[in-house]
Amino acid sequence: MVQDPKGRGEPGFDKHVFICGHQRAPENPRESCNAKNSLEVIRTLKIMTKKAGLNEVRVQKSGCLDFCDNGISCVIYPEATWYTLDGSQEQLTRILEEHLKNGIIVENALMNISTDSGE
Ligand code: FES
Repeated sequence: MVQDPKGRGEPGFDKHVFICGHQRAPENPRESCNAKNSLEVIRTLKIMTKKAGLNEVRVQKSGCLDFCDNGISCVIYPEATWYTLDGSQEQLTRILEEHLKNGIIVENALMNISTDSGE
């Protein structure tokens, strides 16, 4: 058995945050989270979790999560909570303080998918 360099006894994290960093070519008509500044959001949340000492929270860039029009797409496991990030410091602070520290879902950041076809 290989010794974990961080001293962990089993794989996994208390919370695993995936934020889409996907970028499309400029001529592609579909939206992408990268174009909404998702890489900066990822970087900021990583710094915030580290400063908060949340060593059991992992924030990382994902590929396209396939809810592009509702992005910046973010999903947090194990709850499988989907958020639409607006890139604001205020929203990231709420997600950190409420969800990542205390397991409280940030209701007004939840991703809302419209099933209305507009007809
Ligand atoms: S580009 Fe981000 S969810 Fe598809």
